[in-house]
Amino acid sequence: MTGKDSNLEKVFDEIIGEKRYGTMNNCTIEIPAPFCLTVFGASGDLTQRKIIPALYRLERDKLFPEDFVVFGTARTAMSNSAFRALMKDAVKTAFPDKFDRISWKKFSQRLYYAQVDYGERDSFLRLRKKILALEKKHETRGNRIFYLAVPPDVYGPVISNIGSVGLSREEKGYTHIVIEKPIGRDIESAGRLNAVLRSAFSERQIYRMDHYLAKETVQNILMFRFANSIFEPLWDRRYIDHIQITVAETLGVEHRAGYYEKAGVLRDMFQNHLFQLLALTAMEPPSIFEAERVRDEKAKVLRSIRPFPLDRPDDSVVIGQYGQGKVDGVKVPGYRDEPEVKPDSATPTFAALKVLIDNWRWNGVPFYLRSGKRLSRKTAEISVHFKTVPHLMFAGKIDENIEPNALVIRIQPDEGISIYFQAKTPGSRLCLSPVLMDFSYQKVFSLNDYERVLLDCMQGDQMLFVRGDGVEEAWALLSPLIEKLESITYPKNFPNYEAGSAGPDAAAELLKKDGRSWREM
Ligand code: BG6
Repeated sequence: MTGKDSNLEKVFDEIIGEKRYGTMNNCTIEIPAPFCLTVFGASGDLTQRKIIPALYRLERDKLFPEDFVVFGTARTAMSNSAFRALMKDAVKTAFPDKFDRISWKKFSQRLYYAQVDYGERDSFLRLRKKILALEKKHETRGNRIFYLAVPPDVYGPVISNIGSVGLSREEKGYTHIVIEKPIGRDIESAGRLNAVLRSAFSERQIYRMDHYLAKETVQNILMFRFANSIFEPLWDRRYIDHIQITVAETLGVEHRAGYYEKAGVLRDMFQNHLFQLLALTAMEPPSIFEAERVRDEKAKVLRSIRPFPLDRPDDSVVIGQYGQGKVDGVKVPGYRDEPEVKPDSATPTFAALKVLIDNWRWNGVPFYLRSGKRLSRKTAEISVHFKTVPHLMFAGKIDENIEPNALVIRIQPDEGISIYFQAKTPGSRLCLSPVLMDFSYQKVFSLNDYERVLLDCMQGDQMLFVRGDGVEEAWALLSPLIEKLESITYPKNFPNYEAGSAGPDAAAELLKKDGRSWREM
């Protein structure tokens, strides 16, 4: 299958042993073995917006084996045909111009549904019977994936019941479980959830998803650092002044206040996405590019972060909440006026953190992290700011300030990497100006984040998934800080930034105190 909407250039172009391959962007890609994927929470939002559209597109692009089953299950009672109709609407909504009736027909014949009671073992015994029958009918060779798209309060019962009816055991094929954040809301609850997971599955079977790790440019951080010899020698305290990580959104809380009011930005974005970006940027090279080794190095970085000073939280953290304002020229309400948000809510929708890493490589190099909702632009980037030149030999000869070099890894939108450096402006006078060397990913077709993690899980590659210790290390750092902030944040402090702005003024002050400033959003 070819064409501009196709991932594969050549399909099944090689059959080596049991495995099948194709090529995408000139790169060999393995087609997974037959599987039965059970989605818990199949009538919900996540299944309709992300999981089913990703599965449909993978199948349409011939990245799936001939034999597979997608088995939806949730508390709502529904027939197979009602489920197929609901999923058809979801796929049409996701791809309004690219819905293909023929591929949908083929895909939908592999879709099934059954009602389940998450807390009832008997219900899981019935489910087990159905899974075994579907596995037999579609010859999926015992390869099983369970995807938890349920609210976090039922993670525990679902995992325990999968285990108690023997579905987590690997008999003929593999059994994997995919679970999304939130993995707990503090160090204790994360530890409890990990313990429940480990009581039914081994770590090798657990796929804790962080969709930021599946973004193309995020995966590229390691290639960029370790497949080139020119950057790594500069990647430490001798040449780098500081590093900034920004994940800014223009959207508000939307319809998710029920979850967000209890989470806030530090739990929602920092514990997972921002700390994962930091770990990839700061980690040591592993001896081999293999999931366990990479995850060892990431955990080491998190363990080296200096605890935040709880007696002086203002030294390292600024939080904020958006008030009303204008985003892209459109008037938007403040956080407290959003549906289901308390009128005196003290939930932060913005945070900026100064992080110090206590190891040889990063001693004295601050990492400044910021993220928030309803900011002026949607952007996610890592910028590495190099030190100024050691001696200014142009003093008295040029009027301009010499801007230090910066390397910017753009995660979204306009994925790519840029280097800013100084060059002489053409002409007889000695003038310098910063110029840009730019690499942009935008024209290359690639898998989206959900397609990528689903394929990796089918292929047994845990590289883009977070290991239990990684989750707990991040909570160990953030939980005390969040508790402290919750004990001292009063509703009267908020809102403290206008929707459509760059966040609270105090965020700029955090860097100004250190003689630095944020990159413009
Ligand atoms: C999710 C958060 O993990 O990431 C959301 O729960 C946030 O609050 C989203 O909006 C941002 O993801 P992306 O891919 O749109 O940058």
